[in-house]
Amino acid sequence: MLLRGPGSPWARMQANRRALDEIILGQIEERRPGGAGVAPAGNTPAAGDDILSMLLEARDEDGEGFTARELRDQMMHLLFGGHDTTSSTLSFLIYELSRNPHVLERVLEEQDRVLGGRAPTAEDLLNGLPYLSLVVDETLRLYPPVWFGPRMSVKPFEFEGHRVPAGVHIIHSSWVTHRLPDVFPNPEAFIPERFEPEARRRLAPGAYIPFGGGQRICIGKRFGQLVVKAVATTVLRSFRCELRPGYELKVGKLPTLSPEGGLPVRIGVWQADRPRATVPS
Ligand code: HEM
Repeated sequence: MLLRGPGSPWARMQANRRALDEIILGQIEERRPGGAGVAPAGNTPAAGDDILSMLLEARDEDGEGFTARELRDQMMHLLFGGHDTTSSTLSFLIYELSRNPHVLERVLEEQDRVLGGRAPTAEDLLNGLPYLSLVVDETLRLYPPVWFGPRMSVKPFEFEGHRVPAGVHIIHSSWVTHRLPDVFPNPEAFIPERFEPEARRRLAPGAYIPFGGGQRICIGKRFGQLVVKAVATTVLRSFRCELRPGYELKVGKLPTLSPEGGLPVRIGVWQADRPRATVPS
C-alpha cells in the first residue's frame, strides 16, 4: 500500500516536484520572447547562453517549438541525469584517493606541475590533467553510477550458451562487466594506470561503459567528466580528505550508486609552509 497523506514520502515528493517545477517553468517564461529576459539571482547564466535558451529557440521542420511541458521535462531530465551521477562519482573518487595515498600523491604532483597554484581552465580540465582523467576513469569503472541499463534485442543471438530471441527486453550491468577479471585483472583494486592509452586501446568494445554506448550514450558525458574534474581539482588543492577511522563502504544502489548514508570525511587544510600536512578540523 502506498501512503499518500500529508507528511508521507509521496506528499513530500509532490511538494518538492512542485517547487522544482516552479523554478523551471519560471525560467522558461522569463526567457520566452516578451518575458523578463533576465535570469533571477544566483549563478544562473544569462539568457541566450545556456541549454534552456537553445531548447527554447529550437524549431521542428514545421516551425513548431517545444511546449512548456516538453521544455520542463527536458530540463528536469538534464538536471537529474547530471546531478546524482557527478556527485556520487566525486564521493567515490574521494573515497578511493583516501585509501590510496600513492595515487593522491600523483594527482597532487600533476596539479602542482600543471597549474602551479592557479585555478584550472576548461582546457586544463579537458586535456591538461591526464593522470586525473585516469583516476576518474578508474573511479567510474569501480562505481559506475548508472550501473545497469535497458536494451531490446533487435535480432536473435546466442550468449554464453543462452539463446536470446529478437524483441525481448535485456538488462545489462556495467557493474558486472567492469569487474570481469579476464578484462580487468585484480578487478577490486584501484589502478588508474589500467586506462593508460595503450591499455585502453586493447579493451574490447563494450568492456568499459560508464556512460553507456550506442545511440543512447550519455548526452552529458564530456560535461559530466568536466564537472567531476573541476570539483575534484578545487577540493583536492585546498583540502585533505580523510575517511573516518574504521569506516566501511556500503554501496547504495538506487537511484544511482552512492556511498550509503553519505561519505564521512574529515577535512583538513593544507598548510602553506608544510604542504599536504593536516590541520585538525
Ligand atoms: C559522471 C557523470 C555521468 C555518468 C556516469 C552518466 C551515465 C549515463 C548513462 C550510463 C546513461 C545511459 C546511456 C545508455 O543507455 O547507453 C546516461 C544517459 C543520460 N545522461 Fe548521463 N551520466 C553522467 C552525467 C550526465 C550529465 C552531466 C548530464 C546532463 C547535464 C547527463 C544527462 C544524461 C541524459 C539526458 C541521458 C539520456 C540520453 C538518452 O537517452 O538519449 N548525464 N548517462
